[in-house]
This record gives sequence, C-alpha cells and structure tokens, in this order.
Amino acid sequence: MSGLTRQEIVTSIIGSPRPPRRDHGQAFAPSNIALCKYWGKRDAGLNLPVNSSLSISLGRLGTTTAISGSRQDEIWLNDKKLAPDDPFALRLKEFLALFRHDPHMHFHLSTKNNIPTAAGLASSASGYAALVLALDDFFKWNLPLQMLSILARLGSGSASRSLYHGFVEWHRGERADGMDSFAEPITTKWPELRIAVLSVSTTAKAVGSTAGMNRTVQTSTLYTSWPKQAQQDLASLRRAINDKNFTLLGKTAERNALAMHATMIAAEPPLLYWLPETVEQFRKIWRLRDQGLSLYFTIDAGANVKVLFQEADLHHIKEQFPGAEIVAPFQALK
Ligand code: DP6
Repeated sequence: MSGLTRQEIVTSIIGSPRPPRRDHGQAFAPSNIALCKYWGKRDAGLNLPVNSSLSISLGRLGTTTAISGSRQDEIWLNDKKLAPDDPFALRLKEFLALFRHDPHMHFHLSTKNNIPTAAGLASSASGYAALVLALDDFFKWNLPLQMLSILARLGSGSASRSLYHGFVEWHRGERADGMDSFAEPITTKWPELRIAVLSVSTTAKAVGSTAGMNRTVQTSTLYTSWPKQAQQDLASLRRAINDKNFTLLGKTAERNALAMHATMIAAEPPLLYWLPETVEQFRKIWRLRDQGLSLYFTIDAGANVKVLFQEADLHHIKEQFPGAEIVAPFQALK
C-alpha cells in the first residue's frame, strides 16, 4: 500500500475540486474484454494491478452516462431510480464524492448500458469510464486520456482500459502513487476480428471481481505463478496483434483465461464461476476446433463465454451458436 488516498490522487490530477462549468455532461464508453487478464492488486485502495493487461473494446456495446447537478445524489440505472442504499449506488456515490467542490453539491447521474448488466460483461469497466468522461465534460477539465484512464482506474481497474476503442494495454506501472499505471491504445486495427458473446447466465454472480481477486491473492497457492504467466501472455499477444496471427492470439487468450480461473479454483474457499453450461461450451469449442474451425474462448469472473473468431467463419459460428451476440470490435471505429 502507498498510503496515498484516492482523494489525494484526484486532487493531484484535477487540482482542488471546483464547480462545474456546464449544466450537464454526457459520454459513452465501450465495454472491454481482456485477452490478458487483470487479476490481483498491489494496492487495493488505488486499484493498482499486479500485472499489465491487454483488452479489446466492444465497439458500440457499452455505457452512456449523463450527469448534472441536483439537490441530493440520485442514481438512475437503465431508467430505474436506485434506492439510496443499493450497493451499486453506494459505490458510485463514494466515487462521485471525490469530485465535489463543496459538501452541498450533489449529482444526478443517469447511466444506461446496452449490454446485459452483471452478465460477466464488465459493465463496471464501461460504467466508470463513461462516468469519468461525463465528469470531464461537466467540469470541463479537458484532461488528456491518460489522466482520465487513471481516474477511471480509481473507480474500477478494468475501467482504465474502456477509455479507448480497439486493442488497449493497461501498464501496471511501478510507482506507489500509480501515476504510471494507465491504459493506452494499441494502434493496430484488425477489422476481421469477431467476438461472439454466449450468454450462459444473466444472474448476478455471488462473488464480484473485486472480492474474487482479493481472495485469490490472499489464499491461492497457485497465484504465485500468475504474474509470470501474465507477462509471457502479454508478450505473445502483442506479437500476435502485430503479426495478425489469429492462432497465437486465440491460443494465448484462452490459456490466460484458464490460468486465471485455475488460481481461483485453488483459493480458500474455492471460487468456481463456471456453470455446467459454461463447461459444455468449452467442450463444444474444443470439439469444433479439432474439426478444423478456428475459434478460441475467453471468460472473465463469471459464467459467460466469449468466442474469438474471424469474419470468414461467421456463418459457421452463427450455425453453431444461434443465440450469440456477435460483436465486430473495429466496425464502430472511424
Ligand atoms: C476478470 O476491474 O471489475 O474481468 O478493480 O476491483 O473493480 P476492480 O475489478 P474489475 O476486475 C476485472 C477482472 C476481470 C479481468 C479483466 O477485466 O482484466
């Protein structure tokens, strides 16, 4: 732990909190899926990661957030007003408090996801990224994206990557204050890349990512092997992206996700996010691959499986996974 508070970091970035410059602020941020996962914190207060990670943003799938001033804090999620003691609202209000210029200032926040919330699709990532962008619009800080990435990280680690489209790398950084721990886009585009999101379960998971990774770091004997694995996988992914080597990309992402889950399964008490249907999908993907189809999966701290494939195989994928949501991550890019 650095001993620095989130408030100290925020103040060092935006200066002393000051009044908003506009009536409201609004922004969109895409959701993202990590191909090399962020799993474990070296500083829980500042969400500083043990390892660097690499993700792909999901184009038009994500969160739109609007913010304005109000007499009391009000949080709306997908057009429904949340109860003041709702855990999601409480976490957001704690984050918003970092930006108040006076204790009487309150926020009206409306956040809308066009992705299934709590379906393991990292809505906290797009949520905090959209919120930070909306705050930047509201207060007119005009901060560079790297600084906004740091602010988003203070809300949720994976949100640091949702500031950008396409492939994104979040550098773990070395500093205790985390000022070198931000995400940056990788400029290589891969228009043929596709992701199929297989919705296995839409129920909220019992253990969230924050608690899951803390438990793993503290109790799993397998966790010691994770940082090295992540470092190797990150190097392979960078190479795969640079060479447009789909096999290397898919193989590495799948191995990385399974290695992360192995660390969780060895935690005390064990963490198993998979449902029988999740494992069925793994086996189906492996079977199809044995039969010659080029597809790989990745999975976060949840039950839903994301399949990586290329455009040329779209009709096979649609045939095999009829209900899947297909994402073309580079199509929304200008
Ligand atoms: C498995 O970013 O949700 O999706 O920083 O505690 O908010 P906090 O955790 P969060 O964790 C995401 C974990 C993951 C892997 C990833 O997205 O890299």
